[in-house]
Amino acid sequence: MMKWLDWENLKKHCEICTQCGLSRNRTNVVVGEGNPNAPLMFIGEGPGAEEDRTGRPFVGKAGQLLTKAIEGIGLAREDVYIANIVKCRPPGNRVPNLEEAQACIQYLRNQVMLIKPKIIVCLGATAMRHVIDPNMQISKVRGEWIDRKGYWLMPTYHPAALLRDESKKIPFWEDFKKIREKLKVIED
Ligand code: URA
Repeated sequence: MMKWLDWENLKKHCEICTQCGLSRNRTNVVVGEGNPNAPLMFIGEGPGAEEDRTGRPFVGKAGQLLTKAIEGIGLAREDVYIANIVKCRPPGNRVPNLEEAQACIQYLRNQVMLIKPKIIVCLGATAMRHVIDPNMQISKVRGEWIDRKGYWLMPTYHPAALLRDESKKIPFWEDFKKIREKLKVIED
């Protein structure tokens, strides 16, 4: 069921949200940004320092990598929609806990319902576990398509993982090429 029927209402509720403790330390709520009719949506983990400061998703170092990969498949950030599992920065960039993710995911689900993307890419284990399956192993399932309720879901590495481990760059790029191919098929 869709709780917030329009973006204005949804954003307003996110901005005043105090459903979990992360709200206490935030500078800005990072709701998400991009094309509200995007066929392709990316879901990350949660805002980092730059995102908290600016109120925009994926604008720090990992975000620059994501932007490059999006441009690498012939798209711009404005063509896709980018959001996170939690909308407020976890202290020290720790992984959001179950309570925080569960408090926040209602907003993300509502965003998905408004956007109705064809493809949802989960960036990293946190997004994959909350959106697809809590027991999956990212290294085993990345790059695989999961057909669920009319959405094509794909887990891939979080771009921050590429900054720590160069060897993940090639598989990450392979996954982006699969996304490009799937979009072509869908749009034909
Ligand atoms: N990492 C994330 O998971 N999300 C962001 O928005 C930025 C960094």
